[in-house]
Amino acid sequence: MDADRHDPGGREVIQYRHRSGILDLGWGHPDPDLLPADEWSRAWSRAVRRWGHQLLTYGHGPGPIPFRRWLGERLGETDAHPVDPDEIVVTAGASHALDLLATAHTRRGDLVLVQSPTYHLAMRILADHGLVPMAMTPDRGGLGIDVAATADRAHDACARGRRISMIYVVGTFANPTGRSLAADQGAALANLAEELGAVIVEDDTYRELALAGDAPRSLQSAHPSSGVARIGSLSKVLAPALRIGWITGPVEIVGPVSGGGLLDSGGGVSHANALTAVEFASGGGFDSHVATLREAYRGRRDALVAGLHRHCPDLDFEIPDGGWFLWVETPKVGQGTDWSTRAERQGVAFLPGTTFAPGDDSVGTRATLEQRIRLSFSLLSTAELQEAALRLGRAFSVDGRD
Ligand SMILES: Cc1ncc(COP(=O)(O)O)c(C=O)c1O
Repeated sequence: MDADRHDPGGREVIQYRHRSGILDLGWGHPDPDLLPADEWSRAWSRAVRRWGHQLLTYGHGPGPIPFRRWLGERLGETDAHPVDPDEIVVTAGASHALDLLATAHTRRGDLVLVQSPTYHLAMRILADHGLVPMAMTPDRGGLGIDVAATADRAHDACARGRRISMIYVVGTFANPTGRSLAADQGAALANLAEELGAVIVEDDTYRELALAGDAPRSLQSAHPSSGVARIGSLSKVLAPALRIGWITGPVEIVGPVSGGGLLDSGGGVSHANALTAVEFASGGGFDSHVATLREAYRGRRDALVAGLHRHCPDLDFEIPDGGWFLWVETPKVGQGTDWSTRAERQGVAFLPGTTFAPGDDSVGTRATLEQRIRLSFSLLSTAELQEAALRLGRAFSVDGRD
């Protein structure tokens, strides 16, 4: 593997850590070759000429209106409805959006309903706010939500004096499962949120990465009158370092965020980058970039899938319609965790399924997660993914049949 491509000596510069000799399928990071450095540089020059000092001064609290207009229209193309700019707040990524919503809409000690498995780093943000995750009951297939059973448990918890102020759900091409929320489960969840007086935070970070047809409709556009805050980001389709994200939702939800002290003191977040993103998008630049990415990631997904079919016949998985991840079932409980060390000896790494456990095992999903692994196909090239599948095959067939 070309170490320079992934870590050009920048140990104290970037988050990713290259480990010599390891093809790492654990990172949900973009391939460095797919980051649009030249196009961004040209867009930045155009933005400086166009906006002058307005590009570099304190920005408007909720984010610059040209960006919010562009985003509102873009969501009308990738989802069922455009979004009014007044219902958008620009944030420094989806992570920041979740943090801001937790500040505005929760209190320490509240419960938050989450999927199991869930996006593990969101759990860290909830913990920062003293919030306690409560796993939702999975449906029979294990990848969706049994909302009726969840509602019973949620009402019980409230009867015992707990407050449930938020439901966090990765609804489209989820990390780690690649699955999208079924429409009927989304509708039932919207009802449950209303009964509980909780805000649903719909993490929509992967919407642009539809790899087979269109992305499904968001929970927010399907249930506009319920309290859904959708969070999104350009991290996966433009570049994570730009820290451009957003919250969309009714003014009751976004108002307390944009009216908060943070944006009052510091002005709008990622102001210059948001204005530059509009330049980047002008003349079809964003459309063509996203089309290139979709083709590239589709090719990588297919390369990994073909490699696994060839070299790892004992692994079971669905082919995701979007996003960056394969959520793979190993033949026996425990192997998702145990095989990690065996795989590294063969020069390949992944994240064990237990990484995505929400921390609350009241619904007994831990054993299922011990049989799962997450393979990301975003960072490595097609050739590296093929080699990674070969190494996984060696790790799993030589040592794995015990
Ligand atoms: C589901 C999900 N939400 C949020 C994030 C973080 O997004 P951002 O870079 O916009 O903070 C990620 C990144 O892996 C993710 O998978």
